[in-house]
Amino acid sequence: MRLSDEAAVPSPSLLIYHDRVEENLRRMIAMAGGPARLRPHLKTHKLPQIIARQVALGVTKCKCATIAEGEMAARAGATDIVVAVPLVGPNVPRLLALIRAFPAVKFATLADDAGAIAALDQAASAAGLVVEVLLDLDVGMERTGIAPGPKAVELYRAIAAAPGLRPGGLHAYDGHLRQADLAERSVAAAGGIARTDALRAELERAGLPVPRVIAGGTPSFPIHARRAGVECSPGTTIFWDANYAKSFPDLEFLPAAVLLTRVISRPGSNRLCLDLGHKAVASEMPHPRAVFPALPDANAVVHSEEHLVVETARAADLPVGTALYAIPRHICPTVALHDRVLVVRGGRVAEEWPVVARARRLTI
Ligand SMILES: Cc1ncc(COP(=O)(O)O)c(C=O)c1O
Repeated sequence: MRLSDEAAVPSPSLLIYHDRVEENLRRMIAMAGGPARLRPHLKTHKLPQIIARQVALGVTKCKCATIAEGEMAARAGATDIVVAVPLVGPNVPRLLALIRAFPAVKFATLADDAGAIAALDQAASAAGLVVEVLLDLDVGMERTGIAPGPKAVELYRAIAAAPGLRPGGLHAYDGHLRQADLAERSVAAAGGIARTDALRAELERAGLPVPRVIAGGTPSFPIHARRAGVECSPGTTIFWDANYAKSFPDLEFLPAAVLLTRVISRPGSNRLCLDLGHKAVASEMPHPRAVFPALPDANAVVHSEEHLVVETARAADLPVGTALYAIPRHICPTVALHDRVLVVRGGRVAEEWPVVARARRLTI
């Protein structure tokens, strides 16, 4: 983990270990049973270089959460992109502009509401476009989506009947599954899977096309990977983080994104102040928001914008200026805090990549 050129690298920095990203990608493809089964969520990395690498490995599909992410992915070479949030207001014409800007790319989005479906249809029809829309299912997370059942069939029919829309299949994200034990997680996932499969069968019996089912994130990846005809959309697997490493011992991915921080003050005999504030590491979770492999007893006591104070019995051994390496608890929002990442090859920083899609808007 330690860089050979550490002294020249400013802190706080987000380091991306290139060989570990490669290995994580290899494991993702192997777990999915091939690149065509994967539709990784790019919100974790937001980087065109990773999209390009995935495409080179045959992973041409992806999922994103913003129009800017979709634009970045299209520019970077992805050819099949699902904007996986319900789009409303001005984001509808932005999607249409994205579709027009990249005619060779297949775009789709989600909907779970009759009014939103009508608005999408109206905008697409007025623009002379046909937009592919997946029905977003609520399989237990209660965030977005409609529960599989008669209302879901009705909404899917509305998509199929709309002249400006084309039914794109079903999207079932089960981010509520948090069981540490894979067998227990599989049991918890089974109900949502059965309801999704039953809905798919009912729609197909009614003569409605269901071109794809996209299911899950990282915790349920091993479960959906075993289902035929389902695309898997993990995001975190590309970089991994301390939360998933602790929560899901069955998942073997490598920590590829690491924060470099330094001791900037020692405010007490057992305290270190590090330059790892809220603006460098995601802070929506309780502590520990970063795990220090070299300082396992570090206990966070104060966290502000640019400062993290930890208590440790080893404080006296770590003079001001000492570099420390930390694995973020939650990588996706941590990446979004950094305008660039430093790419490590051969134990040293080899490149700097701007985190292009952390912007809310690129050109569209
Ligand atoms: C809709 C959707 N799909 C996929 C993912 C990826 O999940 P994970 O971070 O568990 O890899 C997320 C994560 O939030 C998501 O919101």
